[in-house]
Amino acid sequence: MTTPPYDVPDLAIRPMRPTDVPAAERLSAEGFHELDSRMFRRSWPEPQPRSEARGAGWVARTLHLLETDPGGCWVAEDGTGMVGVATSFNREKLWCLATYAVRPGLQGRGIGRSLLAAALHHGRGSLRGMLSSSSDPKAVRRYRMAGFSLHPQMFLTGTVDRSAIPVVEKVRDGTAGDFELMDSVDRRTRGAAHGSDHQLMLGLWRLIVSDTSTGSGYAYLDGTGVALLAATNRRTAARLLWTALADAGDEASVFHITAANEWAIDVGLAARLELHTEGYLGLRGMTPPTPYLHNGALL
Ligand SMILES: CC(C)(COP(=O)(O)OP(=O)(O)OC[C@H]1O[C@@H](n2cnc3c(N)ncnc32)[C@H](O)[C@@H]1OP(=O)(O)O)[C@@H](O)C(=O)NCCC(=O)NCCS
Repeated sequence: MTTPPYDVPDLAIRPMRPTDVPAAERLSAEGFHELDSRMFRRSWPEPQPRSEARGAGWVARTLHLLETDPGGCWVAEDGTGMVGVATSFNREKLWCLATYAVRPGLQGRGIGRSLLAAALHHGRGSLRGMLSSSSDPKAVRRYRMAGFSLHPQMFLTGTVDRSAIPVVEKVRDGTAGDFELMDSVDRRTRGAAHGSDHQLMLGLWRLIVSDTSTGSGYAYLDGTGVALLAATNRRTAARLLWTALADAGDEASVFHITAANEWAIDVGLAARLELHTEGYLGLRGMTPPTPYLHNGALL
């Protein structure tokens, strides 16, 4: 472990440009693959490099954030080129960290500290903060030192017991016409709308909506589970999650479950999925949203 001062000659932190995004995507993919291989537990599936489709999603998201929040997206470079990235954004009075990675081999030398400081500065006008942390002890240390409360995350994974799936009614496919409703559900659950992020997510995933006289909610389905789910009550949330599990292939995974969202654990266990832990939801100025399953990057 290296302690400050740092031994990275010619280190510069500068705003990210759209032309940086493909190299930033590769750097982040390498950083997370190295992390997954390092933290790998034998009971889990073998870590795989990021797929081309997921890489394309990463690029689309980062180009979107560069448009909405150019001041929140930063790269670190030295004489050899790009060595780190951090992207962040403000939605209403909520600051979120989307991506944070330093090139493997150069971690633990203070590059991440400088990058996070630049991203946090972008959120200085926001009352609340939200991020989804990996289990990397270096990331966890950075976030706690920046004042984030760390809420352990669980995830469900395994083969869905199809015979356990109930008949679910009052769930339909969503469209851009639902964004206003969805923004109001976001404000109730996480205190800030997703705004223009919904347009991006609609292009990436299938949207389902439930809107009845007793509750409203929505979820984006990524084929194996949910990419994001928000609802005004647990009953609506459970209905959406069951629909997601019915929509998934035989192997399903549902990530980013905090202890405040036991309704999701109950659905997953009823579907005979396994429960594990991984990473933290980092929060500043707010309590864990519920009923809510956050997205890892768009929160
Ligand atoms: C998280 C990450 C971006 C941080 O960047 P970094 O350049 O490594 O961070 P820094 O060197 O500035 O800070 C790391 C801190 O952890 C400490 N540290 C280093 N090795 C450590 C270890 N094995 N265990 C615990 N702490 C460690 C460092 O001393 C430093 O703390 P200090 O500045 O208070 O002394 C980088 O490590 C990374 O890319 N990790 C893999 C991807 C990842 O998990 N990203 C976060 C996604 S949420």
